[in-house]
This record gives sequence, structure tokens and C-alpha cells, in this order.
Amino acid sequence: MKILIQPTESLGTRDLNHKMHHSLLLYLSLGALVKFAAGSDWCYNGCDHTPSEWPQLHGSFCGGKRQSPIDIVTSHVKTDPNLLNFTFVNFSKHVIKSIENNGHTVKCRLEENEVEVSGGGLTDTYSTIQFHFHWGDTEYHPGSEHKIDGHRYPMEMHIVSLKKGLTVEQATANSDGIAVLGFFINATEDGNMSGPWNLLTSHLMSNKDTEGTTNYNISINDLIGNVDLTKFYRYMGSLTTPSCNEAVAWTVFHEPINVNKELIKRFPMKTGLVNVFRPVQELNERQVSASPATPLPPSPWCYDDHHCAYNSSLWHLLSHSHCGGERQSPINIVTKTAVIDEHLDAFTYTKFDDKNAIKSITNSGHSVKCVLKEDTVEVSGGGLGYVYSTLQFHFHWGAVSHESQGSEHMVDSKRYPMEMHIVNKRKDLKLEKALETPNGLAVLGFFIEAADTTKSSGGSSSEHQETHPPSSSTSDMGAWKKLTKYLSAIHNIRSEVNVTEEISIDDLLGNVNRAAYYRYNGSLTTPSCNEAVVWTVFKESVKVDQDLMMLFPIQTGYHNVFRPTQSLHDRTIFSTTSAASAPGPIILFLLLACLCAFPLNLRL
Ligand SMILES: *[C@@H]1O[C@H](CO)[C@@H](O)[C@H](O)[C@H]1NC(C)=O
Ligand SMILES: *[C@@H]1O[C@H](CO)[C@@H](O)[C@H](O)[C@H]1NC(C)=O
Ligand SMILES: *[C@@H]1O[C@H](CO)[C@@H](O)[C@H](O)[C@H]1NC(C)=O
Ligand SMILES: *[C@@H]1O[C@H](CO)[C@@H](O)[C@H](O)[C@H]1NC(C)=O
Ligand SMILES: *[C@@H]1O[C@H](CO)[C@@H](O)[C@H](O)[C@H]1NC(C)=O
Ligand SMILES: *[C@@H]1O[C@H](CO)[C@@H](O)[C@H](O)[C@H]1NC(C)=O
Ligand SMILES: *[C@@H]1O[C@H](CO)[C@@H](O)[C@H](O)[C@H]1NC(C)=O
Ligand SMILES: *[C@@H]1O[C@H](CO)[C@@H](O)[C@H](O)[C@H]1NC(C)=O
Repeated sequence: MKILIQPTESLGTRDLNHKMHHSLLLYLSLGALVKFAAGSDWCYNGCDHTPSEWPQLHGSFCGGKRQSPIDIVTSHVKTDPNLLNFTFVNFSKHVIKSIENNGHTVKCRLEENEVEVSGGGLTDTYSTIQFHFHWGDTEYHPGSEHKIDGHRYPMEMHIVSLKKGLTVEQATANSDGIAVLGFFINATEDGNMSGPWNLLTSHLMSNKDTEGTTNYNISINDLIGNVDLTKFYRYMGSLTTPSCNEAVAWTVFHEPINVNKELIKRFPMKTGLVNVFRPVQELNERQVSASPATPLPPSPWCYDDHHCAYNSSLWHLLSHSHCGGERQSPINIVTKTAVIDEHLDAFTYTKFDDKNAIKSITNSGHSVKCVLKEDTVEVSGGGLGYVYSTLQFHFHWGAVSHESQGSEHMVDSKRYPMEMHIVNKRKDLKLEKALETPNGLAVLGFFIEAADTTKSSGGSSSEHQETHPPSSSTSDMGAWKKLTKYLSAIHNIRSEVNVTEEISIDDLLGNVNRAAYYRYNGSLTTPSCNEAVVWTVFKESVKVDQDLMMLFPIQTGYHNVFRPTQSLHDRTIFSTTSAASAPGPIILFLLLACLCAFPLNLRL
């Protein structure tokens, strides 16, 4: 997008009131005074200050960390349920006041205070002032500014709006002072040659700094056509021309406007301007979100055959995959082969009792993951030899049925209903490094089984601990209720919501015996299956209400999210000396399995 920013000095010297200020902006935007605008001696090609030099321009923000445009990598986009429908005011009216060629683009100026945009997750109402275009050359080289998964469209249209009540100067100093709606324009062979795009392009002119003013019989909606306005991406960025102010809440619509390629060719031909787009900029720490209606690409892998190219027997074919290795997880733990290891002592848990440590809950499309606040929760001891930072925990489950079994690990060929994986990273390593280190990650796996419903509801673990029935560890069902309530807010794949309820990991685990566990060297259980995990699978299972467990497959809509067990090869499984708990009924011994887990969504 582009909008002209007049230099502050020129404003400072004039005692402009609000309205005059606005008119000055509009005047400048005609291009007549373009020479005096900050950074006016910039260009896209053929001058001293091409895009790579823009950061050096006086007063420029072009070297900043939230610049635009960007390449939208859809596999990293997250759905944001707050990106609801837009409200557009007077988009159907004939509001184009002038069309000008300012030497950088063609800009259509709108009647003042007529057109407005709100909703769409924007925090305010924005007043639309102009729209303009970016394009390639007459040989049909594409010229959109944003890209989608590396694809550049032939053109892009930017509709620019200022937060209502702000001057341009105020808006450019405000982190979301400007809202730009970006539309990709796609070239078709057979598009309409006589519609509004014909009318618009018939007004293009080559004379720089000239302005045509007739009664343009075109509305914004005429140009947008039938693009689905509920499908869009959002991120925070900048103006795409100097001074590149980092003041823009960007909306990039998913569907392009289809325009006949001969009409697209008129932009470079009739204006004499070619390749007027800025190269894509680094995303840095930013997250791109998508409205709930926006289709995001399915992940290339899945657990079964039905909806992806790589089911679990083909994961080893994925690029960068370790899934065909010899220390893979999960495994079937054959208890009689487990070797007792006295070094497997008690764990030390830091902040497992922190009721505010869970930052957000997200639906990855393969699992439900609770992401923890950074550098808060830790685990050490347990024979690990290092301090590990807890990153997240997530779940594996089966189908919507009381009989369903969906744990990843098995114990003596028994599968449990669910498994919870608490994923920890060696505190002294960065995640990338940890993924390449044999003990870079430590995952704590807990099997989950149905609680005895006669005593489950609302019980606190301490109450039950008094009686200490050996075969029934209990957890705080209130915590599980709070957690599973969030599932309804993350129906959409890759949606994420903040967790504000007070839930600690200790609440979820209850009084399960954490001194009795199995230990082996393994891998992540999802691609890329890095062989970087020291596995701890606890013998005793966590007990949760069956109805709450079933919410996982019901609310996410997917089931049987567990990887089949992998060959042990020459690995040894170690075991603590202690059994799951004090001697108890035989059923208890069945529970003694361990769990492990760890799926991982590494985009933490
Ligand atoms: C958003 O707009 C779409 C299509 O215009 C409509 O089907 C949907 O009901 C709207 N959603 C809301 C929440 O208004
Ligand atoms: C939209 O156009 C109508 C008709 O010209 C006008 O009365 C109204 O003020 C406009 N809406 C806004 C928000 O400016
Ligand atoms: C873009 O146009 C081409 C050629 O007409 C067409 O095949 C393609 O489907 C269009 N792309 C989109 C996203 O509409
Ligand atoms: C082209 O656009 C004109 C004006 O909008 C319309 O009357 C005509 O039916 C359209 N033709 C086609 C083939 O879509
Ligand atoms: C404006 O365009 C519409 C079709 O898009 C047409 O029906 C109408 O007559 C035009 N008005 C003028 C003044 O040209
Ligand atoms: C995975 O897909 C292959 C080829 O389509 C098929 O032969 C195999 O049975 C599938 N495996 C699973 C676990 O679905
Ligand atoms: C979630 O929390 C973060 C701060 O941790 C905040 O910036 C963000 O706006 C919150 N998101 C929602 C949807 O409330
Ligand atoms: C895991 O591997 C390391 C070295 O490769 C070894 O020292 C350690 O004993 C192994 N641990 C288990 C539980 O097998």
C-alpha cells in the first residue's frame, strides 16, 4: 500500500487545524507536491533509492521489524475466532473523486468522510480515503506486494483507511492507526472486457502528477465483485512505501479479484510505470491470523488414510523426517523385560502448582495443546540429569465411545483411553538445538482412564488421598471441567484462545503416583519424529470423568489421534523400583503401565 506522508517540518511551520491538515494530506496525495514529501526521491527501479536503500532515507522506518509486505505462509497461519465479518459503509456508492498517476502508482481518491470500514477484528471504525494499485510489467510478470505461499499474483489493490478522528500524522504514529484492505488481482483469459475494470482502466494516464476528475460511475464494490469478504488474513505491518511507518493493521483477502489480463496490461502500458511493488519483508516475531471462514491447507500428514497424503505408515517419506529411525516412539512396554534402575529417583517439579501457568490452548489439527508461559514451569531429577523447561502439554485420544482406546504407548499390549504428554526442553538449549540432541527433550507421559463416576465429580485430590485407595488415583475434576470447556472455543483447526481460568498441572494430575515410572530413549511421536526424547511413562493412570474425555473427539471432530507403536530394536526399557502404588487389587497392576507421550507441535 502507499500513502503519502508529508514531512513533519512542513506541517509544523503551518498552524493547521484538523481539517486543513486533512486537506493538505489530500493535496499532497494528488502528487503535485510529491517532491516535498519525505523520501520522495525513492523509486522501485532506476533511481538511487530502490527498496534496498529505503532504510537509509531520512526519517525512514523501512528497516524496522514489522514491515510490509510479507509472504503469507498458510501452514503457519492461525485461525482467530475474533476476526468476524466486516462492516463496509458506502462501498456501493460512486465515491471516486479523482484518479491520478503520482509517479509511483495510480491512486483513486475518495469523497471525504463518506466511506467507512469497521468490524473484521479491527479495534475501531476507519475512514476510507483512497485506494491504489501495485503491478508488474507488460510481459505479464506479476506484481502483487504480498505473496501467498510464495505465489505472487499479477496485481494488488490497497484500500487505505485512517482510524476515525485521527489526522494522517496521528494515524501514522499509532500502531494500528491505519487499516489497509489488500485484494489480490488474478489475470484471467476470459474475464469481462466491458465491466467496471474496463471503465477504470480507460481512465489511466501516463502524465505524472495529473489528476482526472470526472463523475466516475464506479463503486468499490463494483471493483471487488464477488470476492468472499469473510475470508481474510490479518497481521500488523507497515506502509509499503517510504517512510514505511509501522502503523498498519493489514487485511489481505484470501480470494483474488479476477480481471481480464488485457485490462491488467493497461496498468503498465498506459502509465509507463512497471514493477511497482516492494519485495516481501521478514515476518520476524509476528503471527499472521486468519478469519474462521478462511480455508487453511491441511497438514501433509495425518494418522489415517482419509484426508492427507502421508498416513502414519508413510511419515518416513516426509522431508526432514526421522520417522523411519531405530529409536522411535511410542512403544509397547513389555513389563517383564523392563530393567530396574535405582537411579530413577523422584522428580522435582517447579510451578506445577501454578494456577496461571497455562497461557493458551490451541487446536493443532492433530491434537489439543496447552502452551505454558515461557520460563515458568520446570522439571528436574527423575534421573534426567538436567533441568528441563516445560513448554506445553497435549493429548492423544480415540473415538467417541466409552470403549475407545487412544493412548500412544501400550503396556503389555494394553492401550489406554487417552494419554497426556508434558513436553519439556533442556533449559540450557534452544529448541532447534534440543531437537538435534539425544536428550534435548524430556516428555512425561500419563495414561488417562475413566474415573469411578460414583466419586469423581468435584472431588479434590486431597480428600481422596486421605483414604488412599491404591487403585484409584483421582484428579481435580473441577480443573478438567475448566480445561475441557475451552474445547468449544477452538473448533477450528489452528485456532487458539487464551486460558484465563485458574488451572494448574498438579490439579490435572491429581494424586497419581509420580514415583513409579518407566524410562526409555525415544522420539517425538509426530513428524518429524526427532530422536531427541528421554521418555518417562508413569505406571499409574490419571482418572478423569469419561464424559469429559469424550469432549476431545467430539469438540475437535477428529479421533484416533495416536501413532502405532514402533519397534524397540536394541533399546532397553528401565523401571523404577516402585510399583504404581501400594499393593492393591489386580486391576491396579494393569494400571501400572506407563505412559509416554509426546506429540509435539514444535511451532511453539
Ligand atoms: C458473515 O457474513 C456471511 C456472508 O456474508 C454470513 O453468511 C454470516 O452469517 C455472517 N456472520 C455473522 C456472524 O454475521
Ligand atoms: C453514506 O452515504 C450516505 C449518502 O450519501 C451519506 O448520507 C452517509 O453520511 C454516508 N455514510 C457515512 C458513514 O459517511
Ligand atoms: C486465476 O486465474 C486463473 C486463470 O484464469 C485460474 O485458473 C485460477 O483458478 C485463478 N485463481 C484463483 C485463485 O481464482
Ligand atoms: C460484463 O459486465 C457488464 C457490465 O457490468 C455486464 O452487463 C455484462 O453482462 C458482463 N458480461 C459478462 C460476460 O459477464
Ligand atoms: C452507471 O453504471 C451502471 C451499470 O454499472 C449503469 O446502469 C448506469 O446507467 C451508469 N450511469 C451513468 C451515469 O453512466
Ligand atoms: C497408509 O497408506 C498406504 C497407501 O495408501 C496404505 O497401504 C496403508 O494401509 C495406510 N496405512 C494406514 C495405517 O492407514
Ligand atoms: C491473549 O493474551 C495476549 C497476552 O498474553 C494478548 O496480547 C492477546 O491480545 C490475548 N488474545 C486474546 C484473543 O485475548
Ligand atoms: C539413552 O541414551 C544414552 C546415550 O545414548 C544412554 O547413556 C542412556 O543410558 C540411555 N537411556 C536409556 C533410558 O536407555
